Amino acid sequence: MPHTPSIVWHPSAITRNERAELYQHRSCALWFTGLSGSGKSTLAFALDKALHTQSIHSYVLDGDNIRHGLNNDLGFSPEDRKENIRRIGEVSKLFVDAGMIVLCAFISPYEQDRAMVKRMFDPDDFFEIYVKCSLEECERRDPKGLYQKARNGEIAHFTGVSAQYDVPSQPSLVINTEKLTVEESVQLLIDFMESRQLFS
Ligand code: PPS
Repeated sequence: MPHTPSIVWHPSAITRNERAELYQHRSCALWFTGLSGSGKSTLAFALDKALHTQSIHSYVLDGDNIRHGLNNDLGFSPEDRKENIRRIGEVSKLFVDAGMIVLCAFISPYEQDRAMVKRMFDPDDFFEIYVKCSLEECERRDPKGLYQKARNGEIAHFTGVSAQYDVPSQPSLVINTEKLTVEESVQLLIDFMESRQLFS
């Protein structure tokens, strides 16, 4: 819904720099994309914990969790997934403005929806993390039994089975969870964040 001329943006009294000075780190969004079962949530929550122990203000927005509340009116059609991603993009922007490092774990299967989110941010504030794992391995893991249900025809439009997943063409970072342990992946993410000078 486009906003009307009668709605005027009210700027914050505190700048991003002032918040970064207080928290001793910059804010940004790390956007984890990948198939169901690829390890997005596992990595995002493990990174959140690692950052917390270093007094870095982070928070995870996770697909399953957000669909319990804010987005419980949305399903898995391409239109609903787009709206899911758009709303999370807007919420993530608020987290970044609030000085936090927001870790977004969503399948976000469509390249054009991810591009839409990316456009919402300054280039230094948004990083796409491709959590790479083959469909075969995701199906083997099947932590929630959803692939089995999708194969049995009990779940429609299931990503990788009956709905498409566009492999990111230019992610900021690729994490191959078939090759790396959770600890190695978290270290890779922290190294990446340091290389982008998020912590000073
Ligand atoms: S999306 O595509 O970004 O809007 O999806 P997301 O909000 O990340 O939600 C994905 C989780 O929803 C469960 N689930 C499904 N996933 C894909 N396709 C279908 N049809 C579906 N139905 C339910 C599933 O648990 C996903 O969680 P993850 O953590 O990815 O396994």
